Amino acid sequence: MAQNLPSNKTIFSGLQPSGNLHIGNYLGAIKQWVRLQENNTALFCVVDQHAITVPYEPKELQNRILDAAAMYLAAGVNPEKSIIFVQSHVAAHTELAWLLSTVTPYGNVTRMTQFKDKSKKLSSKDAISLALFSYPVLMAADILLYNTNVVPVGEDQVQHIELARDIAERFNKQYGPVLTMPEAYIPQETARIMSLTDPKKKMSKSDGEKTYIALTDTAEVIRKKIASAVTDTDPIFSFKKSGPAVQNLLAIYKAFSEKEDQDIEKAFEGKGYKDFKESLAEVIITALSPIQEKYKTLREDDTDLRFTLGRGMHRAQQIANSTLHQVKEVMGLL
Ligand code: TYM
Repeated sequence: MAQNLPSNKTIFSGLQPSGNLHIGNYLGAIKQWVRLQENNTALFCVVDQHAITVPYEPKELQNRILDAAAMYLAAGVNPEKSIIFVQSHVAAHTELAWLLSTVTPYGNVTRMTQFKDKSKKLSSKDAISLALFSYPVLMAADILLYNTNVVPVGEDQVQHIELARDIAERFNKQYGPVLTMPEAYIPQETARIMSLTDPKKKMSKSDGEKTYIALTDTAEVIRKKIASAVTDTDPIFSFKKSGPAVQNLLAIYKAFSEKEDQDIEKAFEGKGYKDFKESLAEVIITALSPIQEKYKTLREDDTDLRFTLGRGMHRAQQIANSTLHQVKEVMGLL
């Protein structure tokens, strides 16, 4: 769980450009990246090669990659402090993934719960690609290429980071100490933001519009979605007695308002959920609107954005190619 804020470390993280980013992605990952870029060497990647492991629309992908990168910047990732780039622009990712797959036990990959969940959602067995299965090895390569110490992610990615550690350990044991051992950094209260309609499921873009708040949702849509979010049967707001649905809304309230428990409790003690939800919607709208404005500007003209990604690509390539070179050398490749 959450450690003290790391400093003087190398941070790497990324997200898939697969459609609407939501407040789970923001609170679980991007918001942490923004804090971590201050006192660390940070790299943030748009992992487009992960997004093509399930059926997707090629015509939309380029825009989605730019959308994701624009959202990083709009949310506060600073290209003067961090390296921002697109995974497929650095060929070393797929090359290292192949090399690492030679030390990865097949059985360990079969245990990945995300593969099981994602393949269940696909319409036919034929749609389950080999790439979806070997995805965690590519993710390990993403992380290990940059001598990463810390990987800020939501809870759903912890199993993948454990596998990356396992792969690094096996590689180093077999060929010598080339790869740095990474650690997950999980935010304390927002590691797992749950669906608005089912508090037993994590918030996810694949479960339908009503279940999540997209970072680009308008104020009106946010009010509607929060108004119809499930709560508990007890009609009166109670901080201590609340069940998982309200706990989830509280976590969102707390993260966006940056208020303390006791202040939120005091403000809503004895009130109904309607008051709480109305206030929650406004808290989310207030936090997202500057991000949305910046995002809109960045997407109106993508010249600067493409320039930033080009610069990120060159900086990332330098680090990645050096690691790849060392890996190939110790593996005996010519
Ligand atoms: P992805 O694209 O599914 O999600 C991006 C980030 O958002 C977090 N997240 C959440 N956090 C809290 N509550 C939620 N409901 C929620 N939903 C998503 C995820 O944990 C993640 O941090 N495999 C990764 C992408 C990846 C990666 C990497 C991450 C590829 N290579 C290397 C770190 C390092 C993924 O699919 O994330």
